Amino acid sequence: MKQEGKKEIPYHIPVLLSEAIQLLEIKEDGVYVDVTFGGGGHSKEILKKLGSKGRLIAFDRDADAQKNKISDERFVLVHSSFKSIKQELAQIGVERINGLLADLGVSSHQFDKAVRGFSFRFDAELDMRMDGREKKSAKHIINQYQAKHLQEMFSQYGEVHNARTLAHAIVEERQKERIETIQQFLKLLKRYADKKDEKGYYAKVFQALRIEVNEELQQLKELLMQCNQVMENGGRLVVISYHSLEDKIVKNFINNGTFSNEPEKDIYGNITTKHFTAITKKPIEPAAEEVENNPRARSARMRVAKKD
Ligand SMILES: C[S@@+](CC[C@H](N)C(=O)[O-])C[C@H]1O[C@@H](n2cnc3c(N)ncnc32)[C@H](O)[C@@H]1O
Repeated sequence: MKQEGKKEIPYHIPVLLSEAIQLLEIKEDGVYVDVTFGGGGHSKEILKKLGSKGRLIAFDRDADAQKNKISDERFVLVHSSFKSIKQELAQIGVERINGLLADLGVSSHQFDKAVRGFSFRFDAELDMRMDGREKKSAKHIINQYQAKHLQEMFSQYGEVHNARTLAHAIVEERQKERIETIQQFLKLLKRYADKKDEKGYYAKVFQALRIEVNEELQQLKELLMQCNQVMENGGRLVVISYHSLEDKIVKNFINNGTFSNEPEKDIYGNITTKHFTAITKKPIEPAAEEVENNPRARSARMRVAKKD
């Protein structure tokens, strides 16, 4: 078949690109980390700002991202979760960094490739693993978790209004037949969805499952805690998140150095946990024009902080 004129689908369109790069305040000879490489959109811009002595270390836990690897001697792509950042950096001889960018969540490629099981637009096995080496997939969760655990997951990670009812319905259904595919799961979800907004309901349930499969919130916390240890004073932390659960973690970490509304204090009342200062009080959101060109940018919120 003729392929002429057929547009290639981009792996991912980078979000808040110029804002993120500007706020990273890149020093020519600095060492930078992009913990969510994806299609490499942000990484390519960071490399443009680095001189010959600068370095960029990127991470992605998805093997598919390897095909976007940039051929540049200042660049290394590590196939690992960012939760092991300190150990992975030590292995390549890096102890301190001058800046870190995290553009959280999934890439368009993951979302659009049916077989990955991230999207309810397709039929495929219930998978949703960003890292195919991990054992826990969406299928495992749906067929193995106890009702209480399912309920907590839907309620906390998806704010699903009828989380308890849904959890029990899943347990009942899977006793008749294992729930293996997206379409099989959707058939069940349809019975419990708000008829005025079925897609909104599916989106919430799928978000909850994805967060659980990939341990997204836990891994984000582990990354931030290690950030304290590897970042040089004055270094910049730039985090783009796509839902309020992530944003709250980042906000509390920057403001308090903890994952709650309060910092920890010693017996004299001195704050012991806070190591960053916010550069902007409010998170930065994409301009209307960016959202128009790339609707997937609409929920992005970027927070930037400086290591004290
Ligand atoms: C929103 S995309 C990043 C897109 C990238 N900034 C670009 O311009 O193409 C998020 C990427 O981070 C990766 N990712 C998510 N969580 C991760 C983790 N804990 N460790 C490593 N990579 C992760 C995903 O596999 C995905 O490729």
